[in-house]
Amino acid sequence: MSKLAHAQWSSKMTFVLAAAGSAVGLGNIWKFPYMVGESGGAAFVLVYLVCIGLIGLPILIAEWLIGRRGQENPINAMADLAKRGGHFPAWVAVGISGVLGGFLILSFYSVIGGWSLYYTLGSVTGNFSGKDADGIGAVFTGMLGSPGLLLLWHTAFMVLVIGIVARGVTNGLEGAVRTLMPALVILMLVLVGYGITTGHFGEALAFMFSPDWGAVNGEVVLAAMGQAFFTLSLGMGIMMAYGSYLGEDVNLLSTARTVILLDTVIAVLAGLAIFPIVFANGLDLDSGPGLIFVTLPLAFGNMAGGTILGLMFFLLLTFAALTSAISLLEPAVEFMEERTSLSRVAATATCGIGVWLLGILALLSFNLLGDFLILGFNIFDLLDNLTSKILLPLTGLGAVVFAAWCLDRQGVAQELRLSGGAESLWVVVARYIAPLGVIAVFVNSLVG
Ligand code: PHE
Ligand code: NA
Repeated sequence: MSKLAHAQWSSKMTFVLAAAGSAVGLGNIWKFPYMVGESGGAAFVLVYLVCIGLIGLPILIAEWLIGRRGQENPINAMADLAKRGGHFPAWVAVGISGVLGGFLILSFYSVIGGWSLYYTLGSVTGNFSGKDADGIGAVFTGMLGSPGLLLLWHTAFMVLVIGIVARGVTNGLEGAVRTLMPALVILMLVLVGYGITTGHFGEALAFMFSPDWGAVNGEVVLAAMGQAFFTLSLGMGIMMAYGSYLGEDVNLLSTARTVILLDTVIAVLAGLAIFPIVFANGLDLDSGPGLIFVTLPLAFGNMAGGTILGLMFFLLLTFAALTSAISLLEPAVEFMEERTSLSRVAATATCGIGVWLLGILALLSFNLLGDFLILGFNIFDLLDNLTSKILLPLTGLGAVVFAAWCLDRQGVAQELRLSGGAESLWVVVARYIAPLGVIAVFVNSLVG
């Protein structure tokens, strides 16, 4: 169906980097450390690791299995695999909602990527130095209130994403992750190193790791399951698309363990980088974008060496956002490339411009279209809620149910190199536990 032989990752290492690049994002840099601190420290980490093993791992493997067997975009892969196995053609919906989900998420993700670029530049130009809390808050609200500024940085971010994705899997995606991921880890280690010098490192460690079993309740477990899903970029067609460039020789189980380990280590390091600064400066531990775009810049603007540390932090954030953003665009581009006569460059430009236009509506939600509500949400929040609460869980659920119930059990066991008790464990987890976990999160987020 594709005009050329289907692209392949040039090594297992670059595949791991690309998958980890997609996985590592805001979920690691802010959400995970915060959840750990609020929800029971080491007790939460244990719950989270169980959720990653029982929900994240099987769905990640299910998506890779489907992608690798299809060797094509998620929509075609689901259609062909369903047909080959004699299952309902309607399974194609899983591929469609994945590709659509990635496309929709990127439209508002890019707006936030734009904030990150703007703050990176602002760190260099001294936009935060010497400002008090009001001054820093004014930078943030001023940015949100300016359609022109948001448009400029959303556009800049999308130009970067399109530029990388257009160059293809080997030159574009691999080239980007080979530079950005090591740079991200180095920046992170330097920031952790700084954290150690603040004298508040122990406090950060205690905040993140002293176990408090009393803090773990049903709500917390549901949040941990949701995070296990989100942090691995599941349910967006991403891992299916990335899996389609995989050769037979790659061991999916061990690769999944590596990606999960990287994602978790980076999340822990992020906490050890951020919390010492938070404690040293007596900052608020509020959740959401406030910490990253208001409180941390306040600290960076008023501490010795803050300019360079702030620059490193926002660069790191930008790199994390970029490697996630290219993964969000890839499924739609792969689809366009394989289903139309468009070249890779034209397919990327077409999808990228579509995302960019939708992103403009999203960024106008912060100003001109602030009162324009659909179902009670502004456009930005509507896109966010529609994807994270509905499309993603349904896609992830569909992928794992299809892989566990519809693909031939023998073949999958061979492919995953599992036998005996380990194989039975895989079947139980993938057939029952992971689907039930996702359904629980799904229902809870709809009613909650
Ligand atoms: N996995 C990313 C994180 O943990 C989030 C993400 C969502 C990335 C969607 C890409 C696409 O932050
Ligand atoms: Na993540």
